[in-house]
Amino acid sequence: MPTPAIRCATAEDAPPLAAFAARVFPLGCPVTDPSDLESHIASELSPERFRALIEDPNLLVLLAESSQSIVAYTIAARRSPHPAIPATPGELRKLYLDPAHHGTGLADALLHCALSTLNAEIPRPLWLSVFSGNPRAIAFYKKWGFEVIGEQIFLVGTDPQKDFLMRRPASAELIAQY
Ligand SMILES: CC(C)(COP(=O)(O)OP(=O)(O)OC[C@H]1O[C@@H](n2cnc3c(N)ncnc32)[C@H](O)[C@@H]1OP(=O)(O)O)[C@@H](O)C(=O)NCCC(=O)NCCS
Repeated sequence: MPTPAIRCATAEDAPPLAAFAARVFPLGCPVTDPSDLESHIASELSPERFRALIEDPNLLVLLAESSQSIVAYTIAARRSPHPAIPATPGELRKLYLDPAHHGTGLADALLHCALSTLNAEIPRPLWLSVFSGNPRAIAFYKKWGFEVIGEQIFLVGTDPQKDFLMRRPASAELIAQY
């Protein structure tokens, strides 16, 4: 399998990125009512939504391609949308790989790329929200120094799911890891 190439997404990537995101979204959340899943995909993972995300200067949208197909993407944000989190932290909003690339180091490469970009501006703590019943993702984030600091509800359509809030400090020790 060729090594995937990582790059910033452009507006032209919005339709294939939306199609990829819709395909892999169910990997990160529990089985939910098909209508809730459809509603989430229609509102949050449409080509129009991805075009807006790609064009948002506060967001970094990275994708990985192999043989001209998208095999992974991540979105990181410079601002915090939650009042309980101080203004300076960044947010890791999405990190999704095609299952064929799980365990290959591609997730590390994408996160490394996102953190290098965010921390080139200013070293900052990072937070994320992950489905509480997603042990693989939680284990991955713990390897990267994230710790569970709380919980919140994430709505998939009308289905309330329990997410863990995780935070990674901006310590020199952790920054030295990548
Ligand atoms: C989450 C994700 C990006 C992580 O990438 P990855 O390549 O699978 O991660 P890694 O293999 O490097 O690390 C996962 C770790 O979890 C461990 N793990 C796997 N299944 C596990 C389980 N059921 N319970 C606990 N740990 C588990 C693995 O052994 C590995 O640890 P190790 O490297 O010490 O062996 C990827 O799995 C993915 O895209 N998942 C589907 C989408 C998703 O859930 N995204 C997160 C949404 S917030």
